[in-house]
Amino acid sequence: MKILSVGGTRPQFVKMAVMVKAFRDYNLQHDGSIEHRLLHTGQHHDPLMSDIFFQELGMPKPQMLLGIHGGTPGRQTAAMLASVEAALMTWTPDVVLVYGDTNSALAAALATVKLHIPLVHQEAGLRSFNRRMQEEINRIVSDHISDLLLCPTRSAMMQLETEGLGSRTVLVGDVMLDAVLQFATEERESPSLRELGLEGRNYALVTLHRAENTDDVKRLANVLNALEQLRLSVVLPMHPRLKHMLGEEGTRMLASHSHIRLIEPVGYLEMLMLEKKAQMILTDSGGVQKEAYFLGVPCLTMRNETEWVETLHGGWNELVGTNPSAILCAANGIMNRDRSWRDEPRNLAAFGEGCAGERSVKAIMEFMRAN
Ligand code: UD1
Ligand code: UDP
Repeated sequence: MKILSVGGTRPQFVKMAVMVKAFRDYNLQHDGSIEHRLLHTGQHHDPLMSDIFFQELGMPKPQMLLGIHGGTPGRQTAAMLASVEAALMTWTPDVVLVYGDTNSALAAALATVKLHIPLVHQEAGLRSFNRRMQEEINRIVSDHISDLLLCPTRSAMMQLETEGLGSRTVLVGDVMLDAVLQFATEERESPSLRELGLEGRNYALVTLHRAENTDDVKRLANVLNALEQLRLSVVLPMHPRLKHMLGEEGTRMLASHSHIRLIEPVGYLEMLMLEKKAQMILTDSGGVQKEAYFLGVPCLTMRNETEWVETLHGGWNELVGTNPSAILCAANGIMNRDRSWRDEPRNLAAFGEGCAGERSVKAIMEFMRAN
């Protein structure tokens, strides 16, 4: 069976890595009947946003690379739609797997159904209920046109049931938990922490890349203002979107605060180490919120809503928006917590048991046999 995975962004490469291993494991146990290929749209293209994930996470180089990036959301999606369609007509997969909620996922989903190829959506059923987010539209459309919906959580299953899609869903768990369990076990040195002289020291890890935050001057200024006042060293691997918005002058101004350490994006393996060792994480990333929860690190989410509501239980993740006093108040609250707080239970079972990859392959094979 010919299976094509399509992705183009950093979080999709992490999810793909889990599926690459799961298909490989399936082939070892069965007769090697799956031919799994990767199509990279090119949406993320800097070596530290793309190549490093393929090198570190045991994936082959994508067999197809489209090289499409930048531009307005519509242009980017349209260019991908045309090129993915051409790639599908050349390789003619039996089934296509798309991941998450990016423009790459939406374009690939549309191209697939227009060619009547069965479509599987990994990480289906997530909603922020904020229709101004590009990602919310991408998710809704991808879910509604998919033939098989692989859900990470029960709340995602329930959402799809509400939208009349219950018969196409399978609860597989979260492939990002699989990734953390697979890649975060080994203790590694973080070259960034060593270079910054922060080894063994308390720091906050910060990531910021949501268009809603970086492209809104007021919201961005509010977040930066809060970071400037934080009574803790800040390690901030800069997403290219943030770097572009700050520009050289903004970057210099921010870096003039000696406790704020701006670094290039890091690979996934180092990122897991930075997360694990942080006193707290401040982020607007979906993936980083979950990793904080999986690793037992308190997290402040600089948004007004989250798709990953399970992480809010027990106070591990708090929605703080972008108001500086709300961010600082919550950050001080974490700094004042005593160490025993880290024993607060987390419900990792809500994200599966770390076998979402295996369950996804089983669900895809059953679906293909039945259709
Ligand atoms: C995209 C996804 C978002 C996801 C994020 C993960 C959409 C609508 N958004 O947002 O859901 O959370 O990826 O990180 O699909 N850029 C570079 N080099 C790169 C990558 C990006 O310079 O390697 C630049 C682009 O040219 C563009 C900006 O950064 O100017 C934003 O990139 P884009 O891929 O459009 O969206 P993200 O913000 O990365
Ligand atoms: N990540 C990484 N290096 C970084 C920042 C993030 O490897 O410098 C990883 C992070 O651990 C997570 C994924 O990228 O697995 C999240 O991607 P991002 O925050 O860009 O997107 P989102 O999850 O919000 O869609």
